[in-house]
Amino acid sequence: TAEDGANAWLRYAPLPQANNNHSIPLSIVALGNSKSSPVYTAGQELQKGIKGIFGKKLSTNGTKDTSSSIVVGTIDAYKKAYGDFDEADELEEDGFFLSTEGRDVLILGQNQRGALYGTFAYLSRLAQNKLSPISYVSNPHAPIRWVNEWDNLDGSIERGYAGPSIFFRDGFVVDNVTRVAEYARLLASIRVNGIVINNVNANATLLNARNIEGLGRLADAMRPFGVQLGISLRFDSPQTFGGLNSYDPLDLKVDAWWANITNQIYKRVPDMAGYLVKANSEGQPGPLTYNRTLADGANMFAKAVKAHGGIVMFRAFVYDNHINPGNWTADRANAAVDFFQHLDGKFDDNVVVQIKYGPIDFQVREPPSPLFSTLRKTSTAIELQVTQEYLGQQSHLVYLAPLWKEIFEYDLRVDDRPSKVKDIISSARFNRPLGGSAAVVNVGTNMTWLGNHLAMSNLYAYGMMAWDPAVLPEDVLQDWIRLTFGFDRQVMNVITEMSMKSWPAYENYSGNLGIQTLTDILYTHFGPNPASQDNNGWGQWTRADSTSIGMDRTVKNGTGNAGQYPPAIAKTYENIESTPDNLLLWFHHVPYTQLLKSGKTVIQHFYDAHYEGAATAQSFVMLWQSLKGKIDSERYEHINFRQMYQAGHALVWRDAINEFYHNLSGIPDQAKRVRNH
Ligand code: GCU
Repeated sequence: TAEDGANAWLRYAPLPQANNNHSIPLSIVALGNSKSSPVYTAGQELQKGIKGIFGKKLSTNGTKDTSSSIVVGTIDAYKKAYGDFDEADELEEDGFFLSTEGRDVLILGQNQRGALYGTFAYLSRLAQNKLSPISYVSNPHAPIRWVNEWDNLDGSIERGYAGPSIFFRDGFVVDNVTRVAEYARLLASIRVNGIVINNVNANATLLNARNIEGLGRLADAMRPFGVQLGISLRFDSPQTFGGLNSYDPLDLKVDAWWANITNQIYKRVPDMAGYLVKANSEGQPGPLTYNRTLADGANMFAKAVKAHGGIVMFRAFVYDNHINPGNWTADRANAAVDFFQHLDGKFDDNVVVQIKYGPIDFQVREPPSPLFSTLRKTSTAIELQVTQEYLGQQSHLVYLAPLWKEIFEYDLRVDDRPSKVKDIISSARFNRPLGGSAAVVNVGTNMTWLGNHLAMSNLYAYGMMAWDPAVLPEDVLQDWIRLTFGFDRQVMNVITEMSMKSWPAYENYSGNLGIQTLTDILYTHFGPNPASQDNNGWGQWTRADSTSIGMDRTVKNGTGNAGQYPPAIAKTYENIESTPDNLLLWFHHVPYTQLLKSGKTVIQHFYDAHYEGAATAQSFVMLWQSLKGKIDSERYEHINFRQMYQAGHALVWRDAINEFYHNLSGIPDQAKRVRNH
């Protein structure tokens, strides 16, 4: 139902009859009474959840001494009320202790937010029928676990696929913040603690008085869930909006202007998380306009928010979108390291450089950005996309956790030591104070949030992996399936199978061997258009001609990009023999007849993979339809429609790509499926 959509994985559906007599405490003791506090929210949520799952209404004003209770609060509040308690000694910021072993259920957070996270963890166990007693401490992998929303003030959303904005309308913050609070609830349940609500390509009128007041209302709506508000800024605002004659970061007038506007915002939003800045990229203004460095630009904002405890997420997605395709050694993939390497150590300590997971742009397969291995004296965060910009825009099922997992676990071998990406973005490898992850989500007013019920597994998995990258994508998925669709075995098996096959299938029918997604890169980023990749300034090139294909990123003969990685990795990618097939065309320019490790030629692999991927997408329809009657008809039909669409569009992809390369290369398909046009 629509309500199921809005509640997503927080439906609290009744447990199957047999477990309904599970004994639960009789009251809730929430050690915090201010209505906007996360601990108060936790009490309300416990009441709601237990009512839904067990059909029992617990009182929220119990005292621990009279009956068995669920006690929720911060560890400090607990100690104050009940004396010493050392079982939760290892709690770190935002962490929680959960115990269901004693007479009382204890949910204790290092802070209020942690207490709320523990509450959601407890309710998730109940809702999944995981009723055996447990006791554990859970701490976050990294402090920054944010989402980004690319919402424009007019209510449209850049790369959003679920209707207009829940935050803005007609140039201003919306009046009704109900959906905003509902979204914050979902985010809190997956332990996301910050949200940047407007587009990276920001509009300076966000800073007018009415909108600052609006930001205050948004922050008020999200504060009870421990979700802190952040905003994106346009670098030239002092000039275009403030009326100064410059936006030079080293101009004192400009500094003072930012300090002043920042103070105004913090007056209304005292706990604002900070700023996100995209500068000097894709035609955006920035410090380079004044021959200042990107660090000068980032630090200007860092100084403005410092006194308020805010941070600056400075995007590493800086590149020139007018590079010359005629130049064999030009490479957009080199841009991040080229722009940032020499700035390592020059950023203020409340700046975090936010790095897209790959060197290009959210493609179906990329190696990790080499910048992760380059910045050692700078806090970094990884940028992921839940919105499926290049990956089917929520009309295709593509479960992304396996892709993220590969990146998180990738060992960059900095100084020949273990250097997994997940340990670089936390303090583990370089001992940096800040760091973590940000995912571009782009929810909209559509009741499904993302435009597709099944796409919500990606949002769920993002939060859980940002908290703990060690979790397995399939486990996270199955928790989400139980919470979203209940306990039917076949439902579990079918959605697991479809989801786990979905990323490989999409890779197969979109772009293989590291050639990128082969979608239309000029406008829509949707549907096949391999011809659009080359001969333009955007640098998402494939270098395909009639005999050969791929980007030569070697040091010896190409763009040198392989050499941006630490030596052990560079060596692997420098040579065709040691480059894995799935990144062959990312790093090498080869004839279509080049033999892969599988023994196939590149071109035959293209043909076969496209048939295979499209066939897998066809199979999703039958799989889904086997669930008819096991899922409410509203969600069943909604997903059925999308699976049929995906099946059809996968055929379009298959034939468009195969025929394009068949025409270009003139090499026949050994299985004689592909024809000329
Ligand atoms: C992609 C996307 C743009 C976006 C940019 C960014 O290129 O297509 O819409 O502005 O990424 O991340 O800044």
